Amino acid sequence: MIDRTYAVVLAGGIGERVGLGMPKQLIRIAGKAIVEHTLERLEASPLIDEVIVMMNAASLDELVPLVHDPRFAKLSAVLPGGATRNDSTRLALAALPAEARAKVLFHDAVRPFLDERIIEDCVRALDEFDAVDTAIPSADTIIAVNDDGIITAIPARSHLRRGQTPQGFRVGVLRRAYELAALDTEFSATDDCGVVFSYLPEMPIKVIAGTAENMKITEPLDIHIADKLFQMQSTTLDAHPTDGAPVVDLHGRSIVVFGASYGIGASIARQASDAGAIVHAFSRTGTGTDVTSRKHVRRALSRAAQTGAIDAVVVTAGVLSVSELVRTPKRLLRAALETNLLAPAMIAQEAHDHLAASGGQLLLFTSSSYTRGRAGYALYSATKAGVVNLTQALADEWSQSGIRVNCLNPQRTRTPMRQQAFGDEPAGSLLDPDHVADVALRVLDSELTGQVVDVQVAARR
Ligand code: CTP
Repeated sequence: MIDRTYAVVLAGGIGERVGLGMPKQLIRIAGKAIVEHTLERLEASPLIDEVIVMMNAASLDELVPLVHDPRFAKLSAVLPGGATRNDSTRLALAALPAEARAKVLFHDAVRPFLDERIIEDCVRALDEFDAVDTAIPSADTIIAVNDDGIITAIPARSHLRRGQTPQGFRVGVLRRAYELAALDTEFSATDDCGVVFSYLPEMPIKVIAGTAENMKITEPLDIHIADKLFQMQSTTLDAHPTDGAPVVDLHGRSIVVFGASYGIGASIARQASDAGAIVHAFSRTGTGTDVTSRKHVRRALSRAAQTGAIDAVVVTAGVLSVSELVRTPKRLLRAALETNLLAPAMIAQEAHDHLAASGGQLLLFTSSSYTRGRAGYALYSATKAGVVNLTQALADEWSQSGIRVNCLNPQRTRTPMRQQAFGDEPAGSLLDPDHVADVALRVLDSELTGQVVDVQVAARR
């Protein structure tokens, strides 16, 4: 019989060191609470059967609704944690079923960058070992000091590791270790592998490799790092030739595309229509729709709404002109800001009620220059960075209304806008707009929200 595998998410702390006056696992990054990101990773793992959360008792109510959230089908309970991390583990052990052979992974709620490889290594290692730790080598030299701040030892770095989670156990083994710990009046807090190490000293604890990203959000600086990691780790979807066959079925869905006359917008409109969607295509040349005009946008949306609910609004309109800022004509400066940033924000305002009614999605476009400003692209990269932040902020603001907000970050794409700016470029170095559209449709069909989805040319297999 295959042993059942549980995951316990330890979320009983308050996060004093982050100092935001709320449990740090509830801090929202990229549109979701940190603990939700962690739960998503566990939910997505085929190796985990059931998940329970030990939540800070004072804030329990914040997470209880997640048990009924369709995103977390494996989440069976949110229970109150204890006064210390060990107490939270103890309470989890009491809540887990009696089957001693079951596997259980204990994971810190505030390590949201857990990946499938780590989960897999941990669960597999439990076939051979009864206790497993996750750790990474230390780049810094670790020194031991006494109470006076004087070095007492410098252990060889090659044998040192920094412990992370998950820590995996056969449930019966961890229970035994905690039973012995309960008899010890001198017991002092350690992590769960520490309890096994101290009270079952014969037991080998296997160490599997963690990752630098699997950091624990502990200090205020970590929130900023986590924010950046979420941006960088954004979903990457390969663009692959569709050979004419639509990749998703959009029958019965209604999609509004702004900027649909050429390039990526035109490809999305065409492919969405091939996939069965009712497409409302707006552009300056096609319908005289200027995305920088609120009146035009409102008119376009209400025209689209005449045929029924609007399930998605896609904004591909953008301007790119390459020139140093001091040489950029004022007119172009204004156009870049208005088209690339103000228009998406304004379209978002106007589209909100439509998308709230349908539980739909807003899809925006950024560019790889959002991560770093480069000479010649000052306002372009500034506005594209703005689009990313707009996406994440809206995903957060609109999560309660059930509206998803994402943005696509296509690698360089063969579009008229690009050709005008750069002339002819080698064909193999550019994405085809149809491939970008293919990814756009998959995002529109997904449950993603708050994501920057990188679109890359598929590696040849
Ligand atoms: N934890 C827990 N129960 C506790 C204390 C901590 O389940 N009584 C969990 C935290 O929620 C966190 C993990 O253990 O996911 C790691 O602990 P730590 O980073 O120390 O979290 P906090 O105790 O919340 O942080 P601080 O020490 O800054 O207050």
